[in-house]
Amino acid sequence: MTGRILLSPPDVGILEESYIVDALRSGWVAPVGPDVEAFEREVAERVGCGHAVALSSGTAGLHLALLAIGVRPGDVVVVPTLTFVATANAVVYTGAEPVFVDCEPATGNLDPDLLAELLRDLRAGGRRVAAVLPVDMFGACADYTRILPLCAEAEVPIVADAAESLGASHVGRAAGSFGRAGVFSFNGNKIITTSGGGMLVSDDADLVALCRYLSTQARQPVPHYEHTDVGYNYRLSNLLAAVGRAQLRRLDDMMARRRQLRELYAKLFAAIPGVRVLADEDATANCWLTTIVVDPAAAGWRAAELGAHLGAQDIETRPVWKPMHLQPVFAGRRALLSGTAERLFTDGLTLPSGSAMTEVQVARVLAEIERFLQGR
Ligand SMILES: Cc1ncc(COP(=O)(O)O)c(C=O)c1O
Repeated sequence: MTGRILLSPPDVGILEESYIVDALRSGWVAPVGPDVEAFEREVAERVGCGHAVALSSGTAGLHLALLAIGVRPGDVVVVPTLTFVATANAVVYTGAEPVFVDCEPATGNLDPDLLAELLRDLRAGGRRVAAVLPVDMFGACADYTRILPLCAEAEVPIVADAAESLGASHVGRAAGSFGRAGVFSFNGNKIITTSGGGMLVSDDADLVALCRYLSTQARQPVPHYEHTDVGYNYRLSNLLAAVGRAQLRRLDDMMARRRQLRELYAKLFAAIPGVRVLADEDATANCWLTTIVVDPAAAGWRAAELGAHLGAQDIETRPVWKPMHLQPVFAGRRALLSGTAERLFTDGLTLPSGSAMTEVQVARVLAEIERFLQGR
């Protein structure tokens, strides 16, 4: 063994170093500065959105997007049950109620048929549905072709949780560009990272201006400190924005490397009964994390057993997100379920997918998977 192989560690090098050193030497160390502005412009251009605001996290972006579209206490916001907790937490921060909905088996993304049923039920029950928050699971866009008209018909705005999907697209449109606003995360494990950070993008200039204002403590434009609203300290530092700019320049290469890894896994598992790669049909996913789904009856082994084998060899894997409706913190919350998210939680395993993986590390992971399969 030659050291631990992580699931998706940061992929940073000399380009990031030169950008951050330049930013440091420029004196712009605060959460304002030319790199923040340039990073916002560059991400907006990449995504094809008119406006962007750089933030301290994706979670902050989701919170501000919901506030800016008018989500308030007592409202309902529809959230896929299969997601990272931040999606649901952002709803709770506003005082609204997250209502969970199950996902499609092929991708793990929000199931449009169930969404339609849930929107009908909620309206029939007299609830104000203030937003739908689709998530682009592991870097594959949700089915916006179906979700957009459904939400338009129900007159419910969409905030796209594109935390994991920068660089992906759906029918020619970039992830993050769907709905009233889209939110990216630049957390340490994401496809590009600023160590911690996020960005909200939108074509709505007023919405972005409101988020920018709320992200800087809602300070009024006067010389002294004057506040008429409760704001937040959610801005991204200029130093971190500089790292993000360097990462963005490498995004296409990093996506290509992650796709290469996905193809190697897909090839290895193609001949193994009962194993499939999540969202494998989506050629425009960014391949952030590659996840296999194992049917134990057909395969003769469980995803968790492969995870334990790899773990013993110092190779990190993870189960798929534990669904929100099973989380103690959301016990008793309303949910429309099909059982798919629970099955993906039990049968899914996320494999090392980092773009910085060396050939030696890749060979080691593949060899250990082969060794496990031979032992079955
Ligand atoms: C689906 C999803 N939503 C939201 C977030 C929150 O982003 P952040 O960690 O930048 O707050 C993450 C990642 O962490 C995520 O995976």
